[in-house]
Amino acid sequence: MEIRVVSTRPFKDQKPGTSGLRKQVSYFRKPHYLENFVQSIFNSQQGLAGNELILGGDGRFFNREAVQIILRMAMANEIRKVTVGLGGILSTPAASHLIRSRGAAGGIVLSASHNPGGPTGDFGIKFNVANGGPAPESVTGAIHATSLEIDHYRIARAPHVDIDHVGHQHVGEMEVEVVDPVRDYADLMESLFDFPAMRSLLQSRDFSMRFDAMHAVTGPYAEEILEQRLGAPAGTVMRKEPLADFGGRHPDPNLTHARELGELMFGRDAPDFGAASDGDGDRNMILGQGFFVSPSDSLAVMAANAHLIPAYRGGLKGVARSMPTSQAVDAVAQALGIPCYETPTGWKFFGNLLDDARITLCGEESFGTSSDHVREKDGLWAVLFWLNLIAARGQSVATIVREHWQRFGRHYYTRHDYEEIESERAEELMIRLRSALPDLPGRDFGPLRVGAADDFSYRDPVDDSVSTGQGLRILFEDGSRIVFRLSGTGTLGATLRVYLERHETRPEQLEEDSQAALAALIEIAESVADIRNLTGKEAPDVIT
Ligand code: G1P
Ligand code: ZN
Repeated sequence: MEIRVVSTRPFKDQKPGTSGLRKQVSYFRKPHYLENFVQSIFNSQQGLAGNELILGGDGRFFNREAVQIILRMAMANEIRKVTVGLGGILSTPAASHLIRSRGAAGGIVLSASHNPGGPTGDFGIKFNVANGGPAPESVTGAIHATSLEIDHYRIARAPHVDIDHVGHQHVGEMEVEVVDPVRDYADLMESLFDFPAMRSLLQSRDFSMRFDAMHAVTGPYAEEILEQRLGAPAGTVMRKEPLADFGGRHPDPNLTHARELGELMFGRDAPDFGAASDGDGDRNMILGQGFFVSPSDSLAVMAANAHLIPAYRGGLKGVARSMPTSQAVDAVAQALGIPCYETPTGWKFFGNLLDDARITLCGEESFGTSSDHVREKDGLWAVLFWLNLIAARGQSVATIVREHWQRFGRHYYTRHDYEEIESERAEELMIRLRSALPDLPGRDFGPLRVGAADDFSYRDPVDDSVSTGQGLRILFEDGSRIVFRLSGTGTLGATLRVYLERHETRPEQLEEDSQAALAALIEIAESVADIRNLTGKEAPDVIT
């Protein structure tokens, strides 16, 4: 097989963000753009040569072309074997599982998660390490450093590789195995949950559910698990065909983008349980009849009820949440007498805690939860966890959450996103706020007194690595918090995220609307950060 060595020049903008390198498709179609980044992975990760690599993506526009390029580059970089999802498609949690179950040296996941797809949408590439999880900062830093110096890449002159039939083939020296990833993943789920109990629930006349696959990667997985193995009626899985542009919508599981599901769940004769997942299958949204479960609450409810699920019957070693995620799970950890870790935003920070067996469950406010069964967040896993919980408790989603609030209090929570603001303005807001932080402790805002204010940094307890600048926090003495950070996944301008949280324990105050319950904090956020003035926006673009 002829290997071409192609001269190239570095791109200065290949620094991976919260979750890999994410850009508009037009960037990835620029000559050498994808190739430079992939070669930077191979150059900086010497352990890949001679080993197995897992490859697949969420099926968005440009997925198939990218798979072919990466296969030819893998040949030229002496990868022994590449295992590819059928059609080049793998959900993010299924990719994580494949890396682990195959003992592969790593994986390349092609996804821009919940960002829109299509020719004018986004694309992304992420490298996962041998534990199945997203590369830690030391690895993404090495890839980025390499990308700034690269002057050539290697690619084989090979014919198009057939990725549409399951089986083994040899392309030059390299083995390519095309796998149907659904079966392995469904087997894994069946090993964790009480499928017989879930089957009788789904087949009973008194219960119904809808899962919105959002024309993204989880459709085939959900159909196999929910409709085939668990016997839910056909039609339980909505929008189940994966489409390269997700049907023109954002594959983001929230009430704005999963509109039909929301209307159904908040309408008359709503199903008992509603759920959705995102573009690459790692996010989840959980709904009951007329009831939205906030992701931070979902994590806490899971932790409090994990003993009812077969895989977690023996108890949890510990839990973790990203810093901006509400402290609801902390209260559960305290009651259970287990550790609770607070990490920076992004799944990569959970990897060491999971590998070191310090935690069993972890999650983020951004609709992500998972456990030690993989090293990614896992949308369908979370949905099945809830289904198992409903079957085990014989209660509705709303009752389960309300009982949780009665026991632990309610952590009212909201996130306000200001999107596509000019980067300079966003930076200025953060700089001004950072310099104002030292004056805040001791200051009163109405009845609320600031206890501390800082820029969050994290020391990983396993490898002692330190990550700084992870979000500006204003911590009030009563436990309320406001957090400000800039998104690391957007592709247009900057996105400011403002996270607000307040703990309420008075039993008669647990049923308020979140925005109303947090109105005082929302006002304080505006007054300390001058958001309207500096972003030029009267209101947030997205509220979750
Ligand atoms: C966002 C979420 C974060 C999540 C990431 C990948 O990152 O906030 O929790 O891990 O997407 O799904 P951000 O855009 O805030 O950097
Ligand atoms: Zn995702």
